[in-house]
Amino acid sequence: MSWMKIVTIVVAIGLIVGGGVWAYRFFEAPESIDSITDKWSISGHADTTSVSFTRWDDDDPPQIPTACAKCHSLYGYLDWLGVDGSPEREVTEAARVGTVLYCNTCHNPVGHTLTTVLFPSDVEVTDLGREANCMRCHQGRTSTATVEDATAGIAPDTVSEDLGFINVHYAIAAATRMGGVTRIGYQYEDKTYVGFFEHVDDYQACIDCHDPHSTAINPAACAPCHSNVVSYGDLYAIRESTIDYDGDGDTEKGIWQEVNAFHETLYAAIQTYAAEVIGQPIVHANTFPYWFIDTNANGIADPDEVNFGNRYQSWTPRLVRATYNYQYVYMDPGAFTHNAEYVLQLMYDGMEDIATQVPVAYDSYTRP
Ligand code: HEC
Ligand code: HEC
Ligand code: HEC
Ligand code: HEC
Ligand code: HEC
Repeated sequence: MSWMKIVTIVVAIGLIVGGGVWAYRFFEAPESIDSITDKWSISGHADTTSVSFTRWDDDDPPQIPTACAKCHSLYGYLDWLGVDGSPEREVTEAARVGTVLYCNTCHNPVGHTLTTVLFPSDVEVTDLGREANCMRCHQGRTSTATVEDATAGIAPDTVSEDLGFINVHYAIAAATRMGGVTRIGYQYEDKTYVGFFEHVDDYQACIDCHDPHSTAINPAACAPCHSNVVSYGDLYAIRESTIDYDGDGDTEKGIWQEVNAFHETLYAAIQTYAAEVIGQPIVHANTFPYWFIDTNANGIADPDEVNFGNRYQSWTPRLVRATYNYQYVYMDPGAFTHNAEYVLQLMYDGMEDIATQVPVAYDSYTRP
């Protein structure tokens, strides 16, 4: 072999090894702070204009009450964690306005080490990793017990001034992930509910699927197993379970569509019940306080019906229970991934409860 060839081979080996090491370093390199900050800055957590962070700006005095500050303010969350030296798991004072979820909301000595999360049902979930931060805010504010306490001692179909709509609150993903363990949905008496949805090992925690900084889902991460997934919209077509929950003969369509079918039928049941048993038609809209009188009884939330003055006020225990679960599913747009069976159960039981009074078109439905 000539020395030229030897040099060529040595150089080639050098390039291959060197390139490999470089590539390895490149792909293993920790994400740069710049890139993390860019992602964070376009997330909802950094949105200075969001009502989640501006809702209290014009209050007198402008401050976020202790009941709200934990999830709506940097300072409230740090206070709740006890980072400021105050007692843990308690917001001790109203928080000043003007913050979003800056980096140190999650990155502080307590946030990095706490492994437990307390839910509004007083159930504590333990052995968690860094996703514990996400779960402290995305857990809702009420539970089965809230609904039970409010409706106790009132006959199911009696309209009572003591009743009102109970809103579980927003973006309640952690509650859905945990299902029957944390009881944040309204769980009907004598029924059993699925617990935590066991997905697959590497895709169980919030931050396995959601980037912790952009909060976005990368569909490419799902594609190896869910072969239909190419783009974001395909997530809604993911299907693994073979049970035909809505009984339409199609077990190929996305599980999201099955959840949707239950949701629509539960809404129709609520409307029939309100009109026929209570005698006051009802509609739902994406505006606080969500349920309004359907003054022209056309079944649709018309613009002139959606205002606080026209809020629905003829509540019975049965209506409080069903509307609670309807809103629960409405407030977790990821429920089909977080724990489809749990929300299918909640909705099925709501339809069954209403079907004791008025006809509900759910005969073909199967409870998971
Ligand atoms: C356990 C955490 C938590 C607590 C406590 C909490 N919230 Fe929220 N709230 C959230 C989350 C999470 C969202 C984000 C919803 C979204 O935009 O996706 C939210 C959203 C909101 C919104 C915006 C709703 C919309 O239509 O976009 C309002 C208003 C609000 N909360 C009011 C309150 C008030 C008032 C209190 C206190 C009485 C309170 N919250 C307490 C977690 C909480
Ligand atoms: C909502 C909570 C949250 C916020 C806000 C947040 N992070 Fe993170 N960050 C996380 C979590 C959770 C991880 C761990 C991800 C994992 O283990 O895969 C992480 C990881 C990191 C890492 C990798 C090192 C480590 O601690 O694991 C860096 C660096 C980082 N974040 C910087 C930032 C910066 C800079 C900001 C603000 C621009 C920020 N983060 C805002 C939750 C957050
Ligand atoms: C201190 C409370 C808090 C923590 C901790 C927190 N979030 Fe949030 N999250 C919120 C609030 C409030 C909003 C609504 C922001 C807005 O309206 O702009 C939100 C919005 C979101 C959204 C978008 C939903 C929407 O408004 O459309 C996702 C997804 C999300 N968070 C995931 C996460 C993940 C994942 C983690 C953990 C890495 C996390 N959150 C930690 C309070 C929190
Ligand atoms: C198996 C993957 C997976 C896990 C685990 C997961 N999510 Fe999701 N999440 C999704 C998908 C898919 C959606 C629906 C698509 C979307 O909204 O971007 C979603 C939607 C959401 C939304 C609503 C976003 C919006 O646009 O309104 C929030 C908030 C959220 N997830 C937070 C969490 C939190 C907090 C956890 C942990 C308790 C969690 N997720 C765990 C996949 C996951
Ligand atoms: C390593 C393989 C794997 C990856 C990666 C994966 N999944 Fe899954 N997924 C599964 C399996 C297996 C099931 C069935 C679990 C069961 O029902 O016990 C499932 C179930 C689901 C379901 C419920 C489907 C139904 O019919 O009930 C949804 C929704 C889902 N995954 C979403 C996602 C999303 C979103 C991602 C990406 C963020 C993802 N998965 C990543 C393997 C995976």
